[in-house]
Amino acid sequence: MPINIILIGPPGAGKGTQARKIEERYGAVQLSTGDMLRETIKMGGELGDDLKKILDSGQLVPDELMIEMISNRIQMPDCEKGFILDGFPRTVTQAKSLEKMLEDAGKKLDAVIKIDVDEEDLVERIVGRFTCGECGEGYHDTFKRPEVDNVCDNCGAVDSFKRRSDDNEDAIRTRLKAYHDQTAPILPFYKEKGLLQTVDGRESMAAVTAQIYVVLDVEQAQNEAQAV
Ligand code: AP5
Repeated sequence: MPINIILIGPPGAGKGTQARKIEERYGAVQLSTGDMLRETIKMGGELGDDLKKILDSGQLVPDELMIEMISNRIQMPDCEKGFILDGFPRTVTQAKSLEKMLEDAGKKLDAVIKIDVDEEDLVERIVGRFTCGECGEGYHDTFKRPEVDNVCDNCGAVDSFKRRSDDNEDAIRTRLKAYHDQTAPILPFYKEKGLLQTVDGRESMAAVTAQIYVVLDVEQAQNEAQAV
């Protein structure tokens, strides 16, 4: 049975890291709005330039654009396998639009997983982060180095590692503020609906993955029981 979930947490909480693990185990597709925006920036043009300024500053992109982006994406056939929203919704307006979008598409959310972390750890996590430009595998200067320097463990690409332009201390502080002011207020909305689950993101990557699997195995078993 497909599972549809949201991962929520401040920048550097490990949403992208865990989304890739969930994809592998449950077959659901990762919908990272940050990655979608960075792809749009790569294409250039006026929109790309405008988005780059917003992302580099650490502020949020306007709701209308994000809602349109996800509403188109969620209707694509691969989302029938289930989806992991990573980076959306990020405001109360986005959360309410998502509810309507899912209702119109006849889909439901199984869980909203909040990854709890200590804020002091976040800056260290983010400034040490790099990813493979070929396959997107994530690494860290301290917590997850590639087995061979400059070679991706996952796809073998050489010299393809890259760092994000918004992974600097100033932008991180702005992103954290945006999380507190605009994203955290959506948590009560999902709590009221009985969908909110919290995992301890201060643990190792593998331990956080294990906690998420426990939550999702229960959700999947419930979906299967209801389908019988
Ligand atoms: P986005 O790309 O979504 O960035 P973010 O939310 O700031 O989150 P990150 O990708 O920085 O962190 P993450 O939680 O995925 O952590 P990761 O797994 O990489 O958004 C970027 C920008 O796009 C926003 O600022 C905004 O401008 C715009 N945007 C996007 N969506 C939007 C929306 N809906 N509305 C408006 N604007 C939007 O982990 C971080 C590092 O820590 C990695 O190196 C990893 O290896 C390491 N790590 C992970 N877990 C652990 C662990 N347990 N222990 C030790 N290290 C760990």
